[in-house]
Order: sequence, then structure tokens, then C-alpha cells
Amino acid sequence: MTDKTYSADDVKAGAPASAPEDLVTWVAQVATLTKPKDIYWCDGSEEEWTRLTDEMVESGMFTRLNPEKRPNSFLARSLPSDVARVESRTFICSEKEEDAGPTNNWADPKEMKETLNKVFDGSMRGRTMYVIPFSMGPLGGPISKLGIELTDSPYVVVNMRIMTRMGAKALDLIGEGQEWVPAVHSVGYPLIDAEGNEREDTTWPCNDEKYITHFPETNEIWSYGSGYGGNALLGKKCYALRIASTMARRQGWMAEHMLILRLTSEETGKQYHVTAAFPSACGKTNLAMLQPTIEGYKVETIGDDIAWMRPGEDGTLRAINPEAGFFGVAPGTSYDTNPMAMDTMRANSIFTNVALTDDGDVWWEGIDAPMPDHLIDWHGNDFTPADAEEGKVAAHPNSRFTVPASQCPIICPDWEAPEGVPVDAILFGGRRATNVPLVAEQYEPAHGVFIGASVASEQTAAAEGSVGSLRHDPFAMLPFCGYNMADYWGHWLDMQKELGDKFPKVYQVNWFRKDENGKYMWPGFGDNARVLDWIVRRAAGEVEAVEGVTGKYPKYEEFNLEGTDVDEETWKKLFHIDPEAWAAEMDDTEEYFSKFGDHLPEEITEQLKKFRDRIEEAK
Ligand code: GTP
Ligand code: SPV
Ligand code: MN
Repeated sequence: MTDKTYSADDVKAGAPASAPEDLVTWVAQVATLTKPKDIYWCDGSEEEWTRLTDEMVESGMFTRLNPEKRPNSFLARSLPSDVARVESRTFICSEKEEDAGPTNNWADPKEMKETLNKVFDGSMRGRTMYVIPFSMGPLGGPISKLGIELTDSPYVVVNMRIMTRMGAKALDLIGEGQEWVPAVHSVGYPLIDAEGNEREDTTWPCNDEKYITHFPETNEIWSYGSGYGGNALLGKKCYALRIASTMARRQGWMAEHMLILRLTSEETGKQYHVTAAFPSACGKTNLAMLQPTIEGYKVETIGDDIAWMRPGEDGTLRAINPEAGFFGVAPGTSYDTNPMAMDTMRANSIFTNVALTDDGDVWWEGIDAPMPDHLIDWHGNDFTPADAEEGKVAAHPNSRFTVPASQCPIICPDWEAPEGVPVDAILFGGRRATNVPLVAEQYEPAHGVFIGASVASEQTAAAEGSVGSLRHDPFAMLPFCGYNMADYWGHWLDMQKELGDKFPKVYQVNWFRKDENGKYMWPGFGDNARVLDWIVRRAAGEVEAVEGVTGKYPKYEEFNLEGTDVDEETWKKLFHIDPEAWAAEMDDTEEYFSKFGDHLPEEITEQLKKFRDRIEEAK
């Protein structure tokens, strides 16, 4: 068989007039390698969305949900082998292994390019290659950045339309000469082989061999074999975290796995902006859309997963949400736990790996409605309460909704402010059944970095691996830092020094501490507003703090617990410090830090020593 070849002139003939020369040349190169049957330039229009979603319904990749219950919304089911991020197949291909550091999989860039050239060769045969221009952050904003994703997956196109500012306007900015990041994605399931033999498409094409690769020195992304989430929507983790973190270090800003919210005091009208880093599936979406159970505050959402932060002209740290949508965990989301997320997904939404009801709506474990007598589960099979009794689940634990942020009823009016919002406080948390108190304030800036660096959390279903096992996840960035993690801590220390007093205070939080019966001791969700209330009152100098081992704690009398069933005894347990347990935890942390050798900043070693001194005092 003779494959179609693509010269730059061919590509140019089919491209919008705004596409610049360097882009056209690159598209032609990738098309020559991957050999798609045609090339389509996405404009981001409503018509395009409708056409692609219609085609996907036709091909079976999408199930249209009941238009009366869930207008313009769709369900996709992936293969069981492609349900989450694949950290073991994620690579940082820096020139030097040391620059990727001990927490990343490193691969030699030249060798990886050779491998990629093999797997991408002909990988799009029989398919359309979509060219997706996108902006991370508001179009043309000073903190925003542009990219082009080439993909053979229409599922990726429609998800990118929700998750980013995608289409003609982003291409116009690229055409004006702005810098852009090239990202190539293929599901690795060509419909024609090298000999010309054709095969049927499936409803979730992917490949058992997967490569999620990043080239930080040349700002390139190549992703092969997966169609799911962060593996395939390359603007998200690959660009906005892994590549952006390396750019940020070079350029003096920060790319973080953080939600952003605005808290407004109804009494004074004063606004506070809080960012928070929790590991995957540990409650960022919930906190971002918090409905306070206490009077006096209004919460508005700015972002639920990623924050880009940069010193502003006024010397404050300014944060933007580079995304335009939410890709949130479905199970556990309900009108009870997150009503604003539920309202956000009432229309124009994509659901992946949730269950389907007989009347064409979605269902998952933990949603408000009781389990119906019959469902179609995420495998596409019949599912009844008898299956649930056997311990099976109808929705995959990492099933997700993709929804436009603009549909969130409490989206902040300034969520697209190009210069960002000034950050007042930064929270770090994780799932910790033991040891870690409800909230602790930093002693000093370097202690704040130590708090971030020593985050550990019980693993969730957001990535392959053993759910529930405790692992170090510094800054909730373990899977997302594009360079040596210890250098990243050094960058944080540098940013703190640069901003001085204006750098936000850091707090450690833990909503997940359990009692001796394995029950969560803190009510969580809307009651987390009580912790924010204390932080705000600290900032205003209205309340004191008690010095302890892990940081400074609230006083029981000064913390608003009214209306909860948290009594003084539970409060004490929430803040209990066992010096022996903490000594053991610091031994483990020291061992973890030692992996970074002389990349570990001096200040972190000093903080470890101060921590140990506080443990001794507490004994
Ligand atoms: P990624 O999108 O994977 O980065 O994660 P995320 O941090 O946005 O996760 P998300 O908010 O979707 O986490 C959801 C999980 O955390 C669900 O299982 C929730 O029930 C649980 N969760 C969120 N907030 C709380 C809380 O305050 N207390 C308890 N106990 N669970 C919570
Ligand atoms: C996470 O795992 O932290 C996510 C989901 O936000 S994904 O985009 O798939 O990485
Ligand atoms: Mn995330």
C-alpha cells in the first residue's frame, strides 16, 4: 500500500489562513509520520461540537443522554485497561537524568524520540488527525499560554473544547507570532495496517503499550496509547503542570496542582483568595465549590485543579486557573456533598465510565438517588442491586464528568481576570487517617515549604497503583512536577524570598483523620468553611494560635464548632500529637528526603531539625 504523504504545501492548502508557517511545517511532519487519512483544523464552534458528538453517537463511542434530563450531554465508556493516569508510563525526557530527579521516570530524549518515531509511525492510519489550537488561561492574558494538540481522537477534541479555550481565536494568537507548545497524541489504534489491511474501529480505541512523554528543554509533549483524562487531554497535566512547572522555574513563576477560591466576608465585604493543593481525588473540587455551613461567608469558585501563580505588579502573588472546565471525580458527588458541582453538570457535559439509568441519565455510587433496580454499568453490562451486594460498583471509582466552568452557579465573576487574583493563603492536605491534625499554621516561610514537601496521602483511584497505601506526594505534585522535585522546593523558597511579606501563609489541613473505629472525626465538606474562617480571622489578627509540633493550632474556644457534633473530646483527638508516631514519621521523611542528595535545600534540612526539636519538647 502507498501511504498518503503530506507536504507543507498540502497542509497549508487545507489550513486556516491564520496558521503560521512553523505550525504548518510541524503538522505536515507529524502527518507524514502518523499517516492519517485526512487532517481537520478545529475551530471550536458549536456546529463543530454538534457534528463531532453526532458522529460519535453514530459510531457508538458516545451514548446520548436523555435530552430532557441532561441536554446536550454524553456518556463514554473506556476499556478497563484505560481508566486513569499511568504514572509508570509517564516520562520526563530531560538531557540529564538528574534534572528529572528521583521521583520521575527519566528517559534519554534521543532514545525516547527513536521509540516514539517507531510507535507513532502509521499510528493514525485510517483516522482523521485533528489539529486543536488552545489557550491555557484567558485568551491573550499576560499569564496565559498557547498550545496545539494533534490527536486522532474525537473524544479528546470535544473534551478539550470544554477544558480549554479551544479553536479559531487561539489559532489567531498563534498566527500573530505568540509562542506555542506542540503536543502530539495518538490512541495507537490505526484502522489500517502497513500492508493495507483494514479493521473495524472500537468504541474505546487505545493501545496496551503507553507512553506519556515530556521534553522539558524543548517544551514538547508526545502521548501514545491512552485516551483517558490527563493521559490524553494534553493541556491539563502534561502542559499546565509538567511542562509549565519547568517554564515557571525558568521564568520566575509557579505551576501548581491547586484549586483557587474566593471567600467573601458578608459583613465587611472583604475578599480572601485561597489556593489549596491536595493529591488527586482528595477533595479539591469539593473545597473549590464549598457551601459554607456557617453564616457570614460566600464562596466563589475560580479553579478546581490547577493554579498558575505569578508575582503581580503590586508585589502580591496572583493566581489564574489555566483551565476552562472541570474534569471531576463522579463517585461521591451529590447534592449533599457538592451541590454546585451537581448543578454545573446539568447540561453540555461529558461523562466517562459512570453508570447509565434506564431513562437515559447518569448514576454513580454516592449520588443522591438510591440505586435503581437496573443500570448499565461502566463496562456496558446489566447491573442490579444484587451485583452491588457482591461488592461490585456500577461506576468506576475514577469515573469523571467534564463540564464547562462557566456553568458553575458560583463561578467567581473574576475567574477569567487575565491578571489573576491575589492569593492570601495556601493550603496543603492529603488523606491521613492518623497523625495529621485538622489544621496547622506555618511557623515561618521555610516551614511552609517543609509542610508542602512532607505531604503524604493514601492513594486513590486517580492513578494506577494500590488504593489506600500511604505514599509521599510532596505539594500534591509527585506525578506532575516536570523537574527535580528538590529543585522545585528550592524554587518555592526563592519565590518566598522574592515576595517577602507578600508571600501567602501556608497551612496544613486534614479532613480525613479517623477515630479508633475507623470513622472520620471531622464532618468535612461544607464544614471545612470553619477552617477557612479560622484562617481568615488569623489574618485579621482576631484569634491566637497555640504552638505545637506540626505548626500553630487554633484554640478550642476560638474555633467555630457551633452546630456540629464535634465535642471537646473529638477536638482533642483531631489535634492529638503522638510524639513517637511523629518521630517515626520524621525518620521516614528524612529517608525520603535523602533520595534527593545535594539537591535538597539546606532550609529543608533545617526545618526537619526544628521539627525534631519540637517532638523532643513534646515528649
Ligand atoms: P483530582 O481531580 O483527581 O485532582 O482530584 P480532586 O482533589 O479535585 O478530587 P475531588 O474533589 O473530586 O475528590 C473527591 C473525593 O474526596 C470524594 O471521594 C469525596 O467524597 C472526598 N471528599 C472531598 N471533600 C471531603 C471532605 O471534606 N471530607 C471527606 N471525608 N471526604 C471528602
Ligand atoms: C488527577 O489525577 O489529579 C486529575 C485527573 O486531575 S487527570 O486529569 O486524569 O490527571
Ligand atoms: Mn488533579
